[in-house]
Amino acid sequence: MNETANAGAPQQKDHGVLYLGIDLGTSRTSVAASNGVRETLASHVAYPKDVVARKLLKKEVLFGEEALEHRLSCNFYSPLASGHIKWGDGNGAGNAEAEANIKATADLVREICRRARPRKDELLYAVVGVPAQASIRNKEAIINAARETLDSVMLCSEPFAVAYGLDWLDDVLVIDIGAGTTDLCRMHGTMPEEADQVTLAAAGNSVDQVLADLIRKKYPEAQFSMQMVKKFKERYSSVLDTMEPAVVEMPVNGKPTKFDITKEVRDACRSIVPPIVEGLGRLIATFDPEFQHKLRNRVLLAGGGSMIDGLDTEIEKFMAEKLGGGTVLRIEEPLYGGSNGALKIAHDMPDDFWEKLK
Ligand SMILES: Nc1ncnc2c1ncn2[C@@H]1O[C@H](COP(=O)(O)OP(=O)(O)O)[C@@H](O)[C@H]1O
Ligand SMILES: [Mg+2]
Repeated sequence: MNETANAGAPQQKDHGVLYLGIDLGTSRTSVAASNGVRETLASHVAYPKDVVARKLLKKEVLFGEEALEHRLSCNFYSPLASGHIKWGDGNGAGNAEAEANIKATADLVREICRRARPRKDELLYAVVGVPAQASIRNKEAIINAARETLDSVMLCSEPFAVAYGLDWLDDVLVIDIGAGTTDLCRMHGTMPEEADQVTLAAAGNSVDQVLADLIRKKYPEAQFSMQMVKKFKERYSSVLDTMEPAVVEMPVNGKPTKFDITKEVRDACRSIVPPIVEGLGRLIATFDPEFQHKLRNRVLLAGGGSMIDGLDTEIEKFMAEKLGGGTVLRIEEPLYGGSNGALKIAHDMPDDFWEKLK
């Protein structure tokens, strides 16, 4: 992030305030802070179930991979797992399940802020990027949960944060491939509205599911868990004919055995391309005809799923076939694209704006 991007902001702006860009993702929560710290954490929260578990784990609350690991002895939450918070009426009033997810979200925000290592006397001003659906459905509830830790908070949709981070605000299409959802967002200068967003189920988890089905079909004797399948994918993910051979180990009747899953990985990764291009087509077709060409040629690929090797070129190939052409650019840091952009928004907001949000 470039400090000169704040040209015009008064010098003393940073005094006493730590600015945070937080990406509250369905599977990962990341922070980029104005003190240079960057941290990322799986979006899981776990509370030990009883005295024994609490004694064993020596903690009141666990986060990230550690929470996942000990989920059996805990009450376990992934509060944003479905792309929006699992809160009863959308804003969390009422039932116990909803209340618990709100608490988990508040604790997750507190933990990611703690990891940004603020000084004790610093005020925390944050821009929080959330999945497009959550930004529409759970806005108030997320802000309230975040306020427990933050002095001032503003929400934006994740794809908007990603584009802002690159200064690509004008006529851009963002493809953000997360775990639970792929969010497509059309940007044209102003904040995107509902009509500018498309949410697809074709995303990281669906690739895992397709891969698991293909492996089961080809090697019915192999034993595996979804966690293993996800690891295989993340290690070998590619849509290229020339991809490196994916040879993995899975037990057969308890005995570790090697299997070649190259074709299965490639086919699973390719499965998300047609729905993504179909979604892009919808957003392009409903845009001002004069600018459709520009939009088609400014497509940004972001999110963890964008690390699939060759995906940008594969989407271009499909766009050429189905939409008459297109250019796709992959962002350099998929893990921090959202939080870097959110931090940049935080920096660019004038002081009196933050004061109003307090
Ligand atoms: N190298 C990789 N290749 C393909 N997919 C990956 C890779 N690394 C992570 N992913 C996938 O990216 C998804 C998470 O993306 P992320 O942007 O962090 O999610 P979210 O916004 O949902 O929190 C997961 O499905 C994960 O398996
Ligand atoms: Mg995300």
